[in-house]
Amino acid sequence: MAEPERLHVTAPEGDYDIFIEPGLIERIPARVTGIGLGERIIVATNTTLAPLYGERLAATLPNAAVVTMPDGEQYKTLDTVAQLYADFAAAGLDRVGTVIALGGGVVGDTVGFAAATYMRGVRLIQMPTTLLSMVDSSVGGKVGVDLPQGKNLVGAFKQPDAVLVDPAVLATLPEREWRCGMAETIKHGFLNDPQLLELASYRQGFSGPDDAVQLVRRAIQVKIRVVEADPYEHGVRATLNLGHTFGHAIERVSHYSWLHGEAVAVGLVAAARLSYKIGLCDSDLPGQVEEIVRATGLPTRFGDLDPQAIYDAMATDKKWQSGKSRFILLRSIGQPEIVSGVDPVAVLDVLTSLR
Ligand SMILES: NC(=O)c1ccc[n+]([C@@H]2O[C@H](COP(=O)([O-])OP(=O)(O)OC[C@H]3O[C@@H](n4cnc5c(N)ncnc54)[C@H](O)[C@@H]3O)[C@@H](O)[C@H]2O)c1
Ligand SMILES: [Zn+2]
Repeated sequence: MAEPERLHVTAPEGDYDIFIEPGLIERIPARVTGIGLGERIIVATNTTLAPLYGERLAATLPNAAVVTMPDGEQYKTLDTVAQLYADFAAAGLDRVGTVIALGGGVVGDTVGFAAATYMRGVRLIQMPTTLLSMVDSSVGGKVGVDLPQGKNLVGAFKQPDAVLVDPAVLATLPEREWRCGMAETIKHGFLNDPQLLELASYRQGFSGPDDAVQLVRRAIQVKIRVVEADPYEHGVRATLNLGHTFGHAIERVSHYSWLHGEAVAVGLVAAARLSYKIGLCDSDLPGQVEEIVRATGLPTRFGDLDPQAIYDAMATDKKWQSGKSRFILLRSIGQPEIVSGVDPVAVLDVLTSLR
């Protein structure tokens, strides 16, 4: 059998590899070395994924126990982390053991934070199961939880010992979640890989696992390039927020009836329009971006949400340093730029054009 695709990531606290292979979940001991198979292993997942994949994964590993958290962003909390600590202890996890975070970004962030802090940190393997977590959240070392005061307000940098990506598990992902992952995937294309955008119209039932490997690999490579250049988000890593200033505001104003990826999709269109409006890019770009977003089946308009309310929600974004607007915009596809102090009238005009 061919070797799995293997990508290397250089990080300040230690390098790691990302393995990509359809069916990997069935054969980890044969494929992945150096993950402490002799020690206690905790497969930490949620109640949806435990019966689908968690039990099966644990059965292939010696000395593994399954620990679950409830399913949903509302459980990405310190209470859940406390419960995970208790479950880790009850399952006999000590400081030489390994935690495998099996799930989407919610599991990856919450379990990752628990693994970063339990006994001052145990080994962590990320096993992402959503498209979003494969191409985005499992790579780069950010882990954490939400507070009642806001999302992702508590966290740490915890580099995984490995990231194991089995694109075959995407077969059971709900279609709406697939599209949300596509929003981040095409975002990576706009930032750094125009060729990735040619894969954008692939649907979930694409022609086969090889195509999924291609799509996921190219999107991960963009994330790797960015986090290697700026591991702690002092500069270029902020460009990963393309479409997100608008997106977060749309999510909030919709009271989270819009999913993150759907809101980011409209945010990408908005960022392209704003780029043109302030003279940063040429006139073709907004149409190109909109066409690619539409081809994935994602929304390009926010409909009946109020543009002024979206603007007001943006103005309280934690990334607008000292009240000054800050956007990730595009000079062209593959050339993002961080722009501060954009004229509010231009921003409102763009929002009004997207109803
Ligand atoms: N750490 C980072 O750098 C980073 C980056 C981006 C996003 N995030 C975080 O990621 C989270 C969102 O992650 P997400 O979009 O993966 O959502 P999610 O983890 O909530 O997963 C979405 C849903 O799909 C289900 N699911 C997951 N895999 C499945 C599969 N293979 N088959 C069937 N169902 C499956 C989950 O149980 C869940 O109900 C947010 O909390 C966000 O803040 C973190
Ligand atoms: Zn995002």
